[in-house]
Amino acid sequence: MGNNILKFILDIGNSKIKMLAGELSEDGSKLKILKHVEVDSEGIKKSIIESPALLSESIRKAKELIEEDLKLNIEKVNLGIGGTKVCSRTTNIKLTFEEEKEIKESDLNKLYELAKEELKYGDEEILKKEYYNLRVDNAGIVKNPVGLSGKELQGDIHLVLTKSSDIEDLKEVVIRSGMEIESICFNAYAASRATLSFEDKDKGVALIDIGEGTTDIIIYKNNKMIYVKSLSLGGMHYISDLEYIYKISKEEALKIMDKAISSNDLEETFIIGNRKVSTKNIIDAINARTDDFVKFIRNTIQDSGFTGYLGKGICLTGGVTRIDETYDWIKGNLGYSVKRAYPISISGIEDSRPEMSVCIGILIEVMEEEYNKIEKNKKLKEKEEKALKQDVIQKDNKEQQLNKKIEKERFKKIKMWFSNFI
Ligand SMILES: Nc1ncnc2c1ncn2[C@@H]1O[C@H](COP(=O)(O)OP(=O)(O)OP(=O)(O)O)[C@@H](O)[C@H]1O
Ligand SMILES: [Mg+2]
Repeated sequence: MGNNILKFILDIGNSKIKMLAGELSEDGSKLKILKHVEVDSEGIKKSIIESPALLSESIRKAKELIEEDLKLNIEKVNLGIGGTKVCSRTTNIKLTFEEEKEIKESDLNKLYELAKEELKYGDEEILKKEYYNLRVDNAGIVKNPVGLSGKELQGDIHLVLTKSSDIEDLKEVVIRSGMEIESICFNAYAASRATLSFEDKDKGVALIDIGEGTTDIIIYKNNKMIYVKSLSLGGMHYISDLEYIYKISKEEALKIMDKAISSNDLEETFIIGNRKVSTKNIIDAINARTDDFVKFIRNTIQDSGFTGYLGKGICLTGGVTRIDETYDWIKGNLGYSVKRAYPISISGIEDSRPEMSVCIGILIEVMEEEYNKIEKNKKLKEKEEKALKQDVIQKDNKEQQLNKKIEKERFKKIKMWFSNFI
């Protein structure tokens, strides 16, 4: 491994704890996944920690599987945060200067600070910020106003926030499993890093991650993250519906759901308790619940105010979107163009499944930061080498000038000596 950079990623899902070990080569040119593990998640439901002890134990299991395989100790981990307490708020801020001046990075920071004052309440922490619609002096929208001159700077600032106490609770559970927290990433943003192209984000897209207990939506336009929302809705509801309708246990519900979605024959029947049920009955129950997903997606896009902005439509990711019935129902009923979004494949992982989007996205986010550090150091080194070379050239030039002066003096002396004979 030499001086390669090793990072560990943790996604605490309602159904699975997913953990990755990733490696970036010393020069930043190669990214590899060394190990990926998934273990059952216990002690968490609808993204609420019900038993910190059980959840810590599940995380510890994932950690130990990686440690055994790679023969190392994991000390620090990069953690994903999501859940229904995540909220999205946007405001427009205008800065007016006394006279025309060059816009600096500090002016952008000032916009952010003012937005924070307005949008962040009490026990909240900012997970992500995005500036968009930036203008100098009411001129057109600019990508980056730094370096431009004007008397006014304004823009929309979008903040993604969540309860600090929720972050602290999750951190505590991870620390209890024997790891320090290296960084925190926002789940929906991570999923978008793993699945969406620049073109998707530029033309407008909503990425929907449907997991076991939560459905997350993140909307992009002009390559800017403009809205996020999360609802406690997921695969667990299919199971609880079947438990309720047929008065069966969770295990039985899981079994018949599995049977129904893998059957090709809608007329096929099976016995539940003393009732004869067809595949079609089960699929109908699944579709009724999927209709809630459709309503949630449609309402969220409407509430965001960005209907009509989604040139690239809807991308679906997360474990539940593997179910063909779910995918087909959403595609057929949402009224937008819908496609499945898989995480980009990275060396070391053969099958990048939709439930791995968050984990892979956090890895990309963390390793990109490392790559930027490597590039910055490279540039600094190059600059130093250039300065050193310049120094040597200058010294050489000085030496040459000195030699020329000595030559001149000698010639003068020779001339003087010659003159004695003339
Ligand atoms: N092959 C599959 N067939 C059917 N359902 C699947 C399949 N794989 C995963 N699922 C469903 O996907 C869900 C788990 O997805 P995922 O791993 O994305 O959730 P999670 O990250 O643990 O939960 P959350 O994001 O809500 O915290 C479960 O409800 C499971 O039943
Ligand atoms: Mg998830």
